[in-house]
Amino acid sequence: MSDRAELLRLATAGSVDDGKSTLIGRLLHDCQSIFADQLAAAEKVSKRRGLDEVDLSLLLDGLSAEREQGITIDVAYRYFATAKRKFIIADSPGHAQYTRNMVTGASTANLALILCDARKGLLEQSKRHLFIASLLGIPHILVVVNKMDLMEYSEEVFVRIKDEFAAFAAKMDIGDLQFIPISALKGDMVVDRGEQMKWYQGPTMLSYLENLQVSSDRNLIDFRFPVQYVIRPDQDFRGYAGQIVGGVIRKGEKVRILPSGVEAKVQSILYDEKEVEMAFAPQSVVITLDREVDVSRGDFIVREANLPEVGNDVEAMLCWFDEKYDMELNKRYLMKIGTRTVPCFVENMKYRLDVNTLNRDREAVNLELNDIGRVHIHSTDAIIYDFYKKNRGTGSFILIDEMTNQTVAAGMIMDKGQTSDYVGGRNLVAKKGAALWFTGLSGSGKSTISDKLAEYMSARGLPFERIDGDAMREVLSSDLGFSKEDRDRNIDRAGYVAGLLSKHGVFALCSFISPFAEKREELRSKVPNFVEIFVNTSLEVCEKRDVKGLYRKARAGEIKNFTGVSDPYEVPESPDLEISTEEYDVEQAVEMVVKYLIDNGYLANE
Ligand code: ADX
Repeated sequence: MSDRAELLRLATAGSVDDGKSTLIGRLLHDCQSIFADQLAAAEKVSKRRGLDEVDLSLLLDGLSAEREQGITIDVAYRYFATAKRKFIIADSPGHAQYTRNMVTGASTANLALILCDARKGLLEQSKRHLFIASLLGIPHILVVVNKMDLMEYSEEVFVRIKDEFAAFAAKMDIGDLQFIPISALKGDMVVDRGEQMKWYQGPTMLSYLENLQVSSDRNLIDFRFPVQYVIRPDQDFRGYAGQIVGGVIRKGEKVRILPSGVEAKVQSILYDEKEVEMAFAPQSVVITLDREVDVSRGDFIVREANLPEVGNDVEAMLCWFDEKYDMELNKRYLMKIGTRTVPCFVENMKYRLDVNTLNRDREAVNLELNDIGRVHIHSTDAIIYDFYKKNRGTGSFILIDEMTNQTVAAGMIMDKGQTSDYVGGRNLVAKKGAALWFTGLSGSGKSTISDKLAEYMSARGLPFERIDGDAMREVLSSDLGFSKEDRDRNIDRAGYVAGLLSKHGVFALCSFISPFAEKREELRSKVPNFVEIFVNTSLEVCEKRDVKGLYRKARAGEIKNFTGVSDPYEVPESPDLEISTEEYDVEQAVEMVVKYLIDNGYLANE
């Protein structure tokens, strides 16, 4: 398990213009791992083109032809070695399919190598690369500021770019971020230091790569062994083959099989056809157990006291790859996670991320090529997983479109899905209508929750109608003010309409302050299927939010009889449902209402 000569996987990102090919060519060349004939060919072409220096990118162009032969995912893997270490470079082109390529190439990388043109600094593309590297949890990020020769090797330029990158990176979860100024063309700071940047005290790129410690990045605590094959050459031997994707296992240790939960002890471990005492990630091994148990492909062997998550609902960050088809909510996809493939549905989208600004668009409902979003996924069979943060291997998956058989997305599991199976339901049907009466202070979130609930119902074709205080007061109750009598009258009218809808099988989503308990009780007795939902947000919080600026005005005495300030709000004593918005977000609030409706026979899963 020593760090010496341990393989380093690096993923590069950058466009052609950043000089990526030249840099990789330079590395290979200066490390002298280029075949002499390839070098001679590059020299010849360079001379023919009238260049002073050998165009090292030609070395890669020659090699890149191989990757044009019908490989769907355009990532080229280059292999090279120095006396100290072996390297694999996953080289993903920087053009339109960058997200897909980067995710593919970088998912197992120890280090992301991000190229930046010293003349240009932090570009949108660099932000995207940084973000994806952070999203993928690549433990080390090296930003190489290239073309320093074109900026007179200026320390100032380098420091400015470094600060730009660091400021953007500060918004993300990045472990280790380093910067090196180089000239791939002239060779400075790639393998040799050169003469031009005496001000730079750090290591050259190669020396950095050779000395980077990576063993501690690996998860050696949580033992995870997804069974790939069951080996049974004869009656006497039964072994389970696969790759350890996390942790360490020793002979004699107690293990548990998932999902069955059966327990056993490790009898032997075979690595490289030899029996060993222990094995660890990422070794591929065969494990035998001390007794006959039922284990099949896709099952997990884990340690008894350290279990992964098991469940049907996860929240994940999804990177969409498909050029032709956008992500569709509630469409059936296949989720391939580890050695398991299960049908699944993307049930809702929390937000789509704008990678350039890191803004979250919560209104978004789909993902297109290269988009990244946070989604809720429901699988029809339980999956065994870890959060991506804990284990990149057991926390990531791909989605496959069954119709085209294409890989359409890569996902990283961030959390358990909060929606329970039946709330996410695709086949919810309305059994009877209801007047869902949201009561609470102004600004408590009544309208926000009922709007989101309306969206939820609309997406599932359920019959609903919104009746909102503000809208009501503009039209049906435009003659009314905020005295107790007027408020009661306002509620009478709204309650009457809600009752008609409820009686006819519609969900009337009503949001009214309705501050008086007696009035609400009256509604309960008159309106069919009246459901009182208390949106509980403290006055302090409502006042702090003050979305409409009314609390400020009320405090200034510009509005009279303002609920909570100069008029009472009578807290419901036993509402049918209470939602504390300080505890739950709007999605969870909607789930609570839907769950209530299912549990009380208003909605059913069919
Ligand atoms: S209710 O008391 O009759 O139920 P309703 O929900 O229709 O009130 O309307 C409340 C909305 O009217 C508030 O969200 C706010 O925008 C506005 N409003 C204006 N004046 C007042 C006031 N004095 N008290 C409460 N809300 C007011």
